[in-house]
Amino acid sequence: PREPLVLGIETSCDETGVGIVRGRTLLANAIASSMDEHSRFGGVIPEIAARAHLESMTPTIERALADAGVTLEEVDAIAVTGGPGLAGALMVGVSAAKALAVSLGRPLYAVNHLVGHVGADLLTGDALRPAVGEIGELELPTVALLVSGGHTSLLVVRDLVSDVELLGETIDDAAGEAFDKVARLLGLPYPGGPHIDRVAADGDPQAIRFPRGLTLPKDMAKHRYDFSFSGLKTSVARWVEKRVAAGEPVPVADVAASFREAVVDVLLTKALAACADLEIPRLLLGGGVVANARLREVAAERAAASGVQLRVPPLSLCTDNGAMIASLGAQLVAAGHDPSSLDFGADSTLPV
Ligand code: KG4
Ligand code: ZN
Repeated sequence: PREPLVLGIETSCDETGVGIVRGRTLLANAIASSMDEHSRFGGVIPEIAARAHLESMTPTIERALADAGVTLEEVDAIAVTGGPGLAGALMVGVSAAKALAVSLGRPLYAVNHLVGHVGADLLTGDALRPAVGEIGELELPTVALLVSGGHTSLLVVRDLVSDVELLGETIDDAAGEAFDKVARLLGLPYPGGPHIDRVAADGDPQAIRFPRGLTLPKDMAKHRYDFSFSGLKTSVARWVEKRVAAGEPVPVADVAASFREAVVDVLLTKALAACADLEIPRLLLGGGVVANARLREVAAERAAASGVQLRVPPLSLCTDNGAMIASLGAQLVAAGHDPSSLDFGADSTLPV
């Protein structure tokens, strides 16, 4: 039998994503982003994101169908991000998915955004080359570290459709959010992650020893897999303020490199601790912060040193997208999972 053709819709933050897969094969991954509209505010404005999703939804669906070379009538199932994310933004995707499912008479699968990030790694296709590792079977169980502007979560995935456990997450800012806030105080544009990365390339990562949140022995006892980045951000702010107050120049490259090093250190210390504790020698990375050059570099070094196999999907599948949602939907169809009933609502805090 032919593998199911699944259309996935993602609207949890600022990206309107519509992806189409056949089983594990990626056919289309159309994206529209409202980031340009948010950048002058220095953060994603929920109402603007929701309105932009509404405007982009139909054209993005049409683009995905054209890219995949299929018609809407050929689609076997619809998948949509049910949460977590921005409530108003999620609601636009959920409404569109319901409308499609009802009008086409096809099953609808509401999926978790974080699990979707893991589902991205299943996809293969001519256009796909993983950033690190080989295309091939995703071996389970795996530890997954998901880092973006909206989430910083550590998961253990034993079965994609039935056994995903949240080990820990940030107790304050997301890692990407910390990059954005520190970039702002260094006078760099929003979103700041790529700018910090660029500036840090000329800096000394050992110049300033910024704090590593929740890594002291007492914190590791209570918050072993949780993250905290707000103390780090404050520490960078204080350090810069002191320099300015003393009338001394701020060594922006050194601050950026030292800050980046602290974030990367914490992320990988905790992720690799999970691999060791659970005796799972596999680590999957996902989310927009995976674009960070230093994160990828140190991840490769430390994973190799600990005998952990590292997987990093191509960046187009790490940032929020519809293909990862379609991929997870295809797994649910293949597993014979019941579709969602049509009365579910978007859930901004949906657990994994
Ligand atoms: O996954 P994503 O595109 O959107 C969501 O937040 O859901 O991630 C965007 C986040 C932003 O906070 C951005 O500053 C950060 O990822 N980011 C980076 C880099 N590129 C993007 N952070 C660090 N280094 C980068 N190179
Ligand atoms: Zn995401």
